Amino acid sequence: MSVHDLFAIDEIDPGTARKVVLEGREIALIRLGDDVYALGDTCSHDDVSLSEGFVEEDECAIECSKHGALFDLKTGEPLSLPAVRAVPVYAVAVVDGRVELTIEQAAKESQ
Ligand code: FES
Repeated sequence: MSVHDLFAIDEIDPGTARKVVLEGREIALIRLGDDVYALGDTCSHDDVSLSEGFVEEDECAIECSKHGALFDLKTGEPLSLPAVRAVPVYAVAVVDGRVELTIEQAAKESQ
């Protein structure tokens, strides 16, 4: 398990996403209000960056910019077609105003 101190939460606007690369993994950080979620950045339908998609606050989801699949920010599960497979979910927390992400060696990843 490894914990990464990423950035201050104020550096990401509510309702937006940003991509980081950690340990060779591309990860989308999504801020909703004062909460931050972390998903694998690559859409499970095709090779498209979810962090370039649209944050859907009411559904706690992010919409892929290419074909519109919605992914649940808490579970990584697709909420709509055309995606049918989940994307990985990572543990993320805001500690003293900073975003910390934990990678647990595939423990929370879906295949
Ligand atoms: S590439 Fe994401 S829904 Fe098709």
